[in-house]
Amino acid sequence: MVAAARAIETHRPDSLARDDYAEHFVRAASSCGNWPLRPDQVAGGDADPLWGRLGRYFGLRTRVLDDFVIRSARAGGRQVVLLGAGLDSRAFRLDWPPGCVVFELDREPVLDFKQEVLHKLGAEPKTRRVPIAGDVRDEWATSLITAGFDPAIRSIWLAEGLMLYLPSTAEQQIVRTVDELSVSGSAMAFEVKLGPERPEVRANAVYSSAKHWIGVDLLGLFDREPRPESAGHLESRGWSLEVKTPFDFTREFGRGPQPEPDDALASNRWIFASKPIRELDTVTSKARTG
Ligand SMILES: C[S@@+](CC[C@H](N)C(=O)[O-])C[C@H]1O[C@@H](n2cnc3c(N)ncnc32)[C@H](O)[C@@H]1O
Repeated sequence: MVAAARAIETHRPDSLARDDYAEHFVRAASSCGNWPLRPDQVAGGDADPLWGRLGRYFGLRTRVLDDFVIRSARAGGRQVVLLGAGLDSRAFRLDWPPGCVVFELDREPVLDFKQEVLHKLGAEPKTRRVPIAGDVRDEWATSLITAGFDPAIRSIWLAEGLMLYLPSTAEQQIVRTVDELSVSGSAMAFEVKLGPERPEVRANAVYSSAKHWIGVDLLGLFDREPRPESAGHLESRGWSLEVKTPFDFTREFGRGPQPEPDDALASNRWIFASKPIRELDTVTSKARTG
């Protein structure tokens, strides 16, 4: 669904993000044969609750997080970890500074499907890319380190469209692990929902539309437990935080989804966290480099 939304976004005249791989993932999935891949295939246009409004949300999120990872890489982060990477094609799309590595953590069948599509396309990553099969609810730090992640150098973490589907304990464990594996100067962005949706929000047309048109029960996918205080935890560990709504970026870019009554996007937050560079680290790093 997110790949189809990215394909549509790519072909909008006012697109926020470009992902030329997205439509190939959708075409390769047999159950998605009649899904729209172009704006002119969305009958209701921007007013369509699923492909118009939610689709635009994914386009905006892609752009904002593209900007975040590239900004963080240019600031010195050299290893990027995509938690629940799914069909994220950033390793193939973005202009990475030299020496970066992108670790993509997801479940094996997802990574296999992705690899098959990319292989058929003859796609070449623009930086080193390391897929890692695993379950983010289990212990995954060992697999990451075995695959070459170095906890002694700056890292960039992304959990895009992941936390909302996970049990609270799994989200807490992920945030603790990211903190433990991150030296100062590291950065993380992740998306959360502030809590379970109210009944009025659960009645929003986007949910019935997703069920009707693509057979996806989005509400059934969301975890129903109260959400953990992930941002608060990172803050208590010394990270600096910026908590944004999608609408902050709609304003910034002058396009994107607008708020609506009983909005399914109202409790979505995008959290940008950075582990400040301590003076001691700067001194140590200068001493190391002479
Ligand atoms: C909604 S998709 C988002 C994918 C990608 N981050 C993006 O924004 O395009 C959620 C992804 O998380 C992965 N995922 C969900 N639960 C997971 C788990 N327990 N362990 C590993 N990956 C998981 C799914 O396989 C899927 O690829």
